[in-house]
Amino acid sequence: MNILLASSEVAPFAKAGGLADIAASLPIEWAKYGQNPIVVMPKYGFIDTDKYGFKLTDITIVVPMGYWHEYARLWEGYLPNSTVPVYLIEHNIYFDRNGIYGDPIEYGDNDRRFIFFSRAVFETAKAVNFRPDIIHAHDFHTAFSMAFLKSYYNQEWFFSETAGVYTIHNLAYQGWFNPSNAMLYSGFGMSQFYQGSWFEKNTSVNAMKIGIMFADKITTVSPTYAKEIRYPYYSEGLQDELNLRGADLVGVLNGVYYDEWNPAIDDNLYLKYSDGQFEIKQKNKLEFLKEHGVSAEDNLDLPLISMVSRLTEQKGIDLITSKLEYYLSEGMFRFALLGTGESRYTDFFRYLGWKYPNLAFVNIGYDNTLSHRLFGASDFFLMPSRFEPCGLTQMYAMKYGTIPIVRIAGGLADTVEEYNLETNKGSGFTFWQYNAEDFEASIKRAISIYNQQPHWDNIRNNAMSNNFSSAKSALEYLKVFKWAIEKVR
Ligand code: ADP
Ligand code: GLC
Repeated sequence: MNILLASSEVAPFAKAGGLADIAASLPIEWAKYGQNPIVVMPKYGFIDTDKYGFKLTDITIVVPMGYWHEYARLWEGYLPNSTVPVYLIEHNIYFDRNGIYGDPIEYGDNDRRFIFFSRAVFETAKAVNFRPDIIHAHDFHTAFSMAFLKSYYNQEWFFSETAGVYTIHNLAYQGWFNPSNAMLYSGFGMSQFYQGSWFEKNTSVNAMKIGIMFADKITTVSPTYAKEIRYPYYSEGLQDELNLRGADLVGVLNGVYYDEWNPAIDDNLYLKYSDGQFEIKQKNKLEFLKEHGVSAEDNLDLPLISMVSRLTEQKGIDLITSKLEYYLSEGMFRFALLGTGESRYTDFFRYLGWKYPNLAFVNIGYDNTLSHRLFGASDFFLMPSRFEPCGLTQMYAMKYGTIPIVRIAGGLADTVEEYNLETNKGSGFTFWQYNAEDFEASIKRAISIYNQQPHWDNIRNNAMSNNFSSAKSALEYLKVFKWAIEKVR
């Protein structure tokens, strides 16, 4: 199967969140299954083309935009340690910037940038003579490609047998665009924009809706989220569209690329460790504490709870800010944070780090090495999300023997099972109601297990032996792709 994956983020080249990890791991797994994937993404100004071995090709693509054409050069490289080709689309006016979506405020021309990219994907395929069976688009940034496929490109021989699959990673970001701009750039024109058309939502253009309506098949990143988003609480206003397309909507659980996220081979760690080697895991914790100025006279036995997260409302930060200072002042645990995001949260965490230098370790910023180290060094990983389409970090944490404390929502419900003292099954602590009491109760259960052997070893063994591999996830996508192809042929 020829699979063209188009994404605004692909790790390690450009990453804002889990989308980048998924866009990088799926193609590698598909290639292992004997499929033929390529990846297409924008050439952002910050991508280190030398480091990753990208080469400028002599290909210039011509991309129709509205009533005019724009030009872009193609760069070619590979996903790291693989033979999966990656094409970078160079259009410096749009992409030679420091951010993916903004820096830090959302760019005003994201409609134009991503409509261009969604169309350039097809011109890239033609230019490199890759006739796709599947165009796999991800989130609102590439959603227009589903409309381009059905409206223009399916009519060309080259794409006549191509099916479109659209994966929703997060309904909270929909791409609301001004119709007179978006309908112009996309070439569809205002005649296609009327109340109830697939381009219209609440008098605006909504890219997410376009992806949902035009795709042959729609997936989202966990079975639970696939169910949740049929109801208003989680649908971000798109429940009607999602229910209309319900027969073509499936949840495919995200997977972990264990060649990268595995404490036995992870060079970022202070010390590597395998299943059951908890004494080495403990050394990772002590190294981390030492590096952060905690000395042997301080209570080194306190549990270390960490977070690696975008600091947005989605991630349930309000629950944490409401009580964290109290927990720290009571000496319940130590807390480590690595994150970027809204200033109301970063200000709070910076304050905590300043006030409790021995108990709260706050890193505001993006740091891949530190993220791996935190998974290795911590006892618990906190993720009290309001909603969570899937979440990768709870799965990473478990592989590192770090026990997740999560709110049961979306993919967290599919991946974290409460530890059961009777059966010794389960590998995390969970709560459901979004309130401070239930959240606190789950933390207290967690700390109580931390102090009880053999439960503490049991739960960590359970966590480390879970298998959420991206190979499984990739196989599920191949089934969806076959199903999509049957629909168009
Ligand atoms: P989301 O995509 O909603 O942010 P996920 O759990 O799916 O959540 O994926 C988040 C990804 O981003 C993980 O790979 C995580 O390690 C990474 N990440 C998040 N914040 C940071 C940060 N500040 N520094 C390094 N990595 C981060
Ligand atoms: C989104 C979601 C997250 C998911 C990720 C990758 O950013 O917030 O839950 O894991 O996409 O699919």
